[in-house]
This record gives sequence, C-alpha cells and structure tokens, in this order.
Amino acid sequence: MQVPIGAWVSATALDFTPGGRRAARRLVGLGLLAAPAAIAAGFADWADLEPDQRRVGLVHAAANTVGVTLYAASWSARRNGHHVKGVGYALLGLTAVGLGGALGGHLAYSQAGGVNHAEGAMRRAGDRWYDLGPLDEIPVGEPVRREVGDTTVVVVRRSQNGVHVLASECSHVGGPLHEGEVTDGPGEPRITCPWHGSVFRLVDGEPLRGPATACQPVFKTEIAAGRLRARAYAEGSVWKNAEV
Ligand code: FES
Repeated sequence: MQVPIGAWVSATALDFTPGGRRAARRLVGLGLLAAPAAIAAGFADWADLEPDQRRVGLVHAAANTVGVTLYAASWSARRNGHHVKGVGYALLGLTAVGLGGALGGHLAYSQAGGVNHAEGAMRRAGDRWYDLGPLDEIPVGEPVRREVGDTTVVVVRRSQNGVHVLASECSHVGGPLHEGEVTDGPGEPRITCPWHGSVFRLVDGEPLRGPATACQPVFKTEIAAGRLRARAYAEGSVWKNAEV
C-alpha cells in the first residue's frame, strides 16, 4: 500500500494548501488506481501466513478495504464539486489505512510475516525435540551449524557445562549467524552477525547492537546420553544451561 498511502497523505497536505484542490483530487485518484495492485500483492503474502498471522492479516485487509472505500467516496464527492465532503471522507480514509498500516507493521515485524526472519524459522521448527548429535563433536567457543527440521540453528558450546542454540537466520534480514563471531563480553557472551554486524546476547537472543531490533529466538536444550537435543522454545527468551 506504499503508493496509495503516499498519494493520499500528499493529497491531505494539498487539501490544506491554498490552490491545492485539483492536485489533491488527482492524487486521491492515483491512490485508487494503485490500490488493486497493492491489494493483490497483500493477498499473495497473506496466503503464505500461519493461521494466527492470517487473523491479523484479515483485520489489516479489512481496515484497508474500508480506507479504499472511503477514498472512492472522497474522489466521487470532489468530482461532483463537494470539496469539503471529499476532504472529510479522505480524513476518515486516512485513519483507516493508517490503522491497516500499523497492523501490517505488527504482522511483519512482531509476528514474522515478513521481516523478522528468525521468528519464521522458529515457527517452522515446530514443537518437538531435535537431535543435534554428540555434544563432544561440538568445539568450545565456536559457532557450529546444525539443522532442526527445515530450520538452521547456530550451536555455541561455551564450556563443559553450557551450550546455546539459537535460530541461525538473523532477525534483521536473515544473515547466517553460524558464520558469525562469538565473543565473551562481561558476563554476556554474544554473537555478531557477519552481514551487518548486529550483536545478540547468547543467553536470551536479546539484540545488544543493531541494525537488528528483534530478539534472536533461543532453543531449549538438554543432553541425553551424551547427545545434544534442542526444542523450539515458544516462550521465547528463557534459557537454561544444559547439564552434561
Ligand atoms: S542480517 Fe544480520 S545484521 Fe543484517
């Protein structure tokens, strides 16, 4: 919806600028012309979402539909010479698409519909234990790549007594954390993404330095008969030392 929203915001600015009526009406029309392509793209994205994401996506789509309808009414009113009425519909429409945009942002960033790659990886892993092989084969202090179903994870063994497993796909734009660098900050061992330098705390995946803003999901771990096992940790950031 970037093109329609950009056109409609500009139209609202022109509505309050002397001599801007005509250009504002054209921009409202331009937004309406661009809306079908934006809606089609949104529908394609929605079809790939998880069920709980789809619910938010439906509310997002409903808000945008109301917004488009109000802008259609605004354009019609303006065309028939009812400028004030047209401005009123446009303000209501802008409120609706603003709400739709906020929900779209929540979907993309918090629910991993698009931008937070790491959360999407976590969802794919599902809720079960995965065998990551013998603990003895994992070197201390070096990031190691392992697979958890379709999800790549980074394993960092810190000592005989501690191992961290995090989604490897960086929450920023998907960089491979298993190729990153592990460092031991004061009480806070961390890993640095090799693509843009985001730093995550290994204990709970908290981003200590951007550009990433979302947590890197951590996996629950356990050792059974000398083998490391990991499971997606739905509650997110609680980490527990595995016992050897
Ligand atoms: S992909 Fe990791 S910091 Fe950009």
